[in-house]
Amino acid sequence: MPPRKRKPVELWDRPPHTGAKHDLLRSYLGAWFPIMAKYNGRVLYYDAFGGPGKYRGGEPGSPLIALQTLVEHSHFASMSGTQFVFLINEQDSGCAEHLEAEIEAFKAAHQPWPSNVVIQVNNETFVDLTTSMIDDFDERAVKMAPTFAFVDPVGVKETPMAVLARLSNYPKAEMLVYFAHEFVVRFCSSGEVDERLDDLFGTDEYKAGGDLTGRRRSQFIHDLYKRQLHDVCEFPYIQSFEMWDGRGKRLYDLYYCTHDTTGLDRMKAAMWKVAPSGDFSFRDRFADQDVIFAETPDTGPLRQELLDHFRGRTVTIQEVIDHVVAETPYTSSHVKRLTLAPMQHDGLISSPNQKRARQFPDGTLIQFPD
Ligand SMILES: C[S@@+](CC[C@H](N)C(=O)[O-])C[C@H]1O[C@@H](n2cnc3c(N)ncnc32)[C@H](O)[C@@H]1O
Repeated sequence: MPPRKRKPVELWDRPPHTGAKHDLLRSYLGAWFPIMAKYNGRVLYYDAFGGPGKYRGGEPGSPLIALQTLVEHSHFASMSGTQFVFLINEQDSGCAEHLEAEIEAFKAAHQPWPSNVVIQVNNETFVDLTTSMIDDFDERAVKMAPTFAFVDPVGVKETPMAVLARLSNYPKAEMLVYFAHEFVVRFCSSGEVDERLDDLFGTDEYKAGGDLTGRRRSQFIHDLYKRQLHDVCEFPYIQSFEMWDGRGKRLYDLYYCTHDTTGLDRMKAAMWKVAPSGDFSFRDRFADQDVIFAETPDTGPLRQELLDHFRGRTVTIQEVIDHVVAETPYTSSHVKRLTLAPMQHDGLISSPNQKRARQFPDGTLIQFPD
């Protein structure tokens, strides 16, 4: 009997919010690849839930976006001293086959293929692949190369906190993780999916969400997941982003986790660049207000937070910038012209050593009122 032909994978449409997620990835990796190449001989891009490589309308999926961002980067020639390993995983064999074919086509269109870019496609579950990879590193007592892991599952059952923790146990590891916020908020107290949620959070404390309603429940679930990424995965810096659709429905959250404030600042800059459309917006909750990421930021919540945080103190401009990068959704580029200058204009802050009003070179001291 001739071998049975596998049914071709059915590609799906790319909704606008997925396009926004891809813009974010493209923008961040465009900064991440050159920064990593400067200091490392080897870096790893791990696309843990790779998908079929393409959407129905022909738009590229995340693995192709990552490859394209590197190989077509204007500074790619200057990164020749670094080996880039693309580890791409997809559990569904039809999707994995399609993905491989897309990657082959991409390589064929980029000949001669650069010898410092290595691509490996795996057809396993995230848990199996990650566990065997880290077990192997542990056995050989080698460290994982600096890694950006994109963890983009569907639903809640494929990304146990314990496995994320193994992946994050390296100083130069960072992750962008999808979180099915609305599903968790809905089912946290139903008892129907407790086993999955136990794994997802690495604790059963999510059940206490059942005692809360509305915004308080939502915030509780958000804060617990963030706390677990902080405590169990030991990431010191985490920025979360809520993805909302045009009709005011929260679709999912993304958590960016890192050990390093440079990456944090770059990821937030990428987020602010993805301008909202009528179909979606990225948001965060900060200083009891909704911050909507947009090209022209509303720095009102940041002004208020700086007045509260530095109340009655005189601090250097660098301290202010460090605080903004580490503790708020804003970036270093939002501090001087967009926030401090108007605050000084409005008489809310002053400086004892400034040479020109509303200019904040290194060493400038800023006085915050009592
Ligand atoms: C949201 S899609 C990924 C989309 C892709 N990251 C992109 O942005 O183009 C999730 C993919 O994960 C795959 N998948 C589901 N369970 C998985 C698992 N346990 N491990 C790895 N991949 C899985 C699905 O087949 C699906 O193609």
